[in-house]
Amino acid sequence: MAEIVREGNLFHLRNEQISYILCVMPENVLAHVYFGRRLSRLNPDPVLRHAGSGDTYYFTTQECGLDRLPQEYPSFGLGDQREGALRVENADGSSAVDLRFVSAVIEEGKPGLEGLPATLGSGAQTLLITLKDRQTNLQVELLYTVFDDCAAIARSAKIINAGLADVKITGAMSLSVDLPDSRWDLITLNGAWARERNVYRRPLMPGFQGTATQCGASSLQQSPFLALARPETTEAQGEAIGAALVYSGNFKAQAAVYQNDAARLTLGINDTDFAWLLPSGEAFQTPEAVLVYSREGLGGMSRHFHRLWENHLLPRKWVHAHRPVLLNSWEAAYFDFDEEKLVSIAQSAANAGVELFVMDDGWFGHRDDDTTSLGDWQVDKKKLPGGLGRLSDRVRALGLQFGIWMEPEMVSPDSDLYRAHPDWAIHIPGRTPITGRHQLTLDLSRKDVQDFVFRSVADTLKASKAAYLKWDMNRNFSNIGSAALPPEQQKELPHRYILGLYAVMEKLVKAFPDVLFEGCASGGGRFDPGMLYYVPQFWCSDNTDALCRCRIQYGTSLFLPASTMGSHLSAVPNHQTGRIAPIETRFAVALGGCFGYELDPRKLTEEEQAALQGQVKFAQETESTRLHGHQYRLLSPFAGNETAWITVSKDQKEAVFTYVKAQAEANTAPALVKLQGLNPENRYRIMETNEVYSGDELMYSGLLCKAGMGDTASLLYTLKAVEA
Ligand code: DGJ
Repeated sequence: MAEIVREGNLFHLRNEQISYILCVMPENVLAHVYFGRRLSRLNPDPVLRHAGSGDTYYFTTQECGLDRLPQEYPSFGLGDQREGALRVENADGSSAVDLRFVSAVIEEGKPGLEGLPATLGSGAQTLLITLKDRQTNLQVELLYTVFDDCAAIARSAKIINAGLADVKITGAMSLSVDLPDSRWDLITLNGAWARERNVYRRPLMPGFQGTATQCGASSLQQSPFLALARPETTEAQGEAIGAALVYSGNFKAQAAVYQNDAARLTLGINDTDFAWLLPSGEAFQTPEAVLVYSREGLGGMSRHFHRLWENHLLPRKWVHAHRPVLLNSWEAAYFDFDEEKLVSIAQSAANAGVELFVMDDGWFGHRDDDTTSLGDWQVDKKKLPGGLGRLSDRVRALGLQFGIWMEPEMVSPDSDLYRAHPDWAIHIPGRTPITGRHQLTLDLSRKDVQDFVFRSVADTLKASKAAYLKWDMNRNFSNIGSAALPPEQQKELPHRYILGLYAVMEKLVKAFPDVLFEGCASGGGRFDPGMLYYVPQFWCSDNTDALCRCRIQYGTSLFLPASTMGSHLSAVPNHQTGRIAPIETRFAVALGGCFGYELDPRKLTEEEQAALQGQVKFAQETESTRLHGHQYRLLSPFAGNETAWITVSKDQKEAVFTYVKAQAEANTAPALVKLQGLNPENRYRIMETNEVYSGDELMYSGLLCKAGMGDTASLLYTLKAVEA
């Protein structure tokens, strides 16, 4: 049960698993005292004296006393020399903010955040703390939620200008947490196009470390997530803290180590090139950040995140709904198709039992390559003479649902839209617009542009009777400027863009509740909890190579569940790496997420075509366990030649186990992989081999994994509990 208890100056947020404790100090400074395993109570003195080198005297606001105090929302300019959570430019040009506790309110439930995605749901308690700078009347409302069912705390801050003069915010973090020691490893997810979310782990060091973006999106290169793990923490054991931002734009996730080895975590909108004019009487809401705590290792941390997003963030209608097995036309045809070709591919997919056919890029304007037509969302009659309607009718007559691709946030310089509205693109007047993939970004901070984007998508969905939309976004920001903002507000553009995007998404998912939206950004370039509030799944990566996907999906699973990862079986040689992996391994790895195909089934051998039907059936039958079961990572592709994971149904009666061996070796002992998450007292039949083992044998002694000959060999097992 979640509860928030006030004991004198202490606020204690807790559930069965965690405690988070804040303390109002003398002089009304708000201190952070504890985040970790549940406590029944806490005397804050030892923690505070530890921070103060044995003496709480340091915490008076005189003599730069705040420099050692663990704080909840530190600000700049009053003696705390560390990185602050809030920085402003006051009317007098100074930057100092002096925040003191004013009041606290405890409420049932979890409120949403206006204009921003956020966790929701019952079974939660929320603490609202108001802080105030008495000189300028700047107020900060800190929101903390503790949930019944997850070892997680959600936090956000609202900055309110209750003074008479305008203020400029130059940095407002969503969370700041001071930890008493720095004996942690920092884990971040970094990469590039086709190499998203690789796992990087290194010890925390004095100074700053972390990850950040300034390209307009959460990006292919970074993820709005970081974890701290004790050096001895493994997948299955030890302490770990995870932090994630429910946001899709520029972010900063940082860990810094200061004197006395104290560590400060900060997470929020990237303050580089950010500023927000806050006129008197107005408020600025930061995105929500989430903290989870695990003492069951990194695996436990991930499962806490997965449960939190599934129970409190992902679209309610879709989170547990069946995800159709789809076939996407991109790698099957790229831009080179017409109606007959698409229908023929769809027919072949229908024969295999595929449920949804998705027409990707190339159907509008005169888009025969990526240099043109974004923004002109009228069907290309040369390719589809009967329009979207006839193609959709023909595909649906085959027993398939119809899905379509759009890149609604973009405009090609070669388009009627750009010729009519050059000012709608993000640009700096007088500078030559810099294109990325030959395109410009529409300025979604503008209401007229938001309305256009909504209309384009709504019209396309109606004309195509689509049951699915792949929402793509394929370039970074550059020449960042908006024709609609005055000079003093230009630095608001990246955040205003994301607010505009969220406004459009909100309106669309409400207007089309039966359409399944899948996000995409050159693959997984905006795959974050912010987008996942609107779209239940995201195209994990353009790289569908089985071995690369092992790494990408392993890294992604650190904070996002399998039910959010679009994951397709593609042709060989693989289009991104040239690797030829057996179809069994490509299938096994693609089952790690929402399963589909990214190939032309007509080009498969007869034997492979015959295998497709069985694959689709297997994917459907195991869907609930694979996508929503508890996931355990067993062997890391970052640590060696093998990858293994298992997802176990919530009742522990069924599991799907996957093992992949990258390179063949001669005369080596096959791995004995210790499974996790099973009921030790159950007996499990491995359906593919008919062998029966007890849960404890499989977990404590291990499952013998002898994959076949050759590179990229794999095993895919379904485990079912059987009567003893
Ligand atoms: C990038 C996406 O990641 C691909 O899957 C595909 O949709 C292309 N864009 C189409 O241009």
